[in-house]
Amino acid sequence: MESLVIVYSYHHHNTERIARVIANVLDAPVKKPDEVTPEEISGYGLIGFGSGIYHGMHHESLLSLADRLPSASSGTAFLFSTAGITGERKTSKDHSLLREKLQAKGYRVTGEFSCKGYNTNSFLKYLGGMNRGRPNAEDIHRAWEFARNLRKELVDR
Ligand SMILES: Cc1cc2nc3c(=O)[nH]c(=O)nc-3n(C[C@H](O)[C@H](O)[C@H](O)COP(=O)(O)O)c2cc1C
Repeated sequence: MESLVIVYSYHHHNTERIARVIANVLDAPVKKPDEVTPEEISGYGLIGFGSGIYHGMHHESLLSLADRLPSASSGTAFLFSTAGITGERKTSKDHSLLREKLQAKGYRVTGEFSCKGYNTNSFLKYLGGMNRGRPNAEDIHRAWEFARNLRKELVDR
């Protein structure tokens, strides 16, 4: 099964670091949303969609890409993100819009990863930011484990 990782990461490139770890384990190319066409995506069996969380959701470019995917798709997707604030329920909510869009197109969403990312948005920049140093080595290791599990369950079968 061929894998693809799509990431949008602009604030501190936090999510891009996570994307590269995951893609390395999956032997997958890393592309930005504007570097792939919906048709191209349909050709992959496993696709990761990730970005920072901005105003409670993934980046607009990923959401609009999901809207443009052909609806007959039968692929498997996973979601990932970095955010100022994380936690099981917070992440599940932050991921919900993208998850629902992909599920509506027929994608099976199999795994979701999130970790904290350095955040200097808005007034935080005057305070030295929050989550300085994140993602850290432990976050990177968790991302690696997440990808190893995906690989074992879906790619190497
Ligand atoms: C415009 C903007 C809005 C943000 N909104 C949220 C938010 O709603 N919830 C949250 O937990 N973090 C929020 N953050 C923090 C980012 O999710 C966090 O810094 C993330 O790691 C950025 O990822 P990136 O470096 O890959 O762009 C926001 C950051 C920016 C710049």
